[in-house]
Amino acid sequence: PGGNEYQAEDATITQGVVESNHAGFTGRGFVNYDNVTGSAVEFTVNAATAGNATLTFRYANGTTVNRPLSISVNGGAQTKDFPGTGAWTTWQEASVTAALNAGANTVRAGATTANGGPNLDRLTVSVAGPPDTVKP
Ligand code: GCU
Repeated sequence: PGGNEYQAEDATITQGVVESNHAGFTGRGFVNYDNVTGSAVEFTVNAATAGNATLTFRYANGTTVNRPLSISVNGGAQTKDFPGTGAWTTWQEASVTAALNAGANTVRAGATTANGGPNLDRLTVSVAGPPDTVKP
């Protein structure tokens, strides 16, 4: 499966705004992080079972400067690079692996530099598991 999708504009936003002025986003728009350290988008992710998941962030960064995010899942954190994509209308994906609990999980993506985060479109969560059943 493609995984469960969570739109950034539906998440809990701390120091950021929902915008739609750069084409190519999915859903109703994207989150423009304030250009400050600590601006953040927090998702509640539901998992049927505990285990490792791939968290894929769809983003744009129209600058040439990396905008790393601290990806915190249920408290533990890892830093992920979000380098320039060439334009604010050019959207790319960056993925991390994290362990999820069964049930609700908190996934927080917080800016680690004064530039803030990239523009964030959505999070897709894919849980590792058996292959899809092939349907006739
Ligand atoms: C520009 C751009 C925004 C972006 C911002 C930034 O203003 O239009 O979408 O979020 O730069 O540097 O973060």
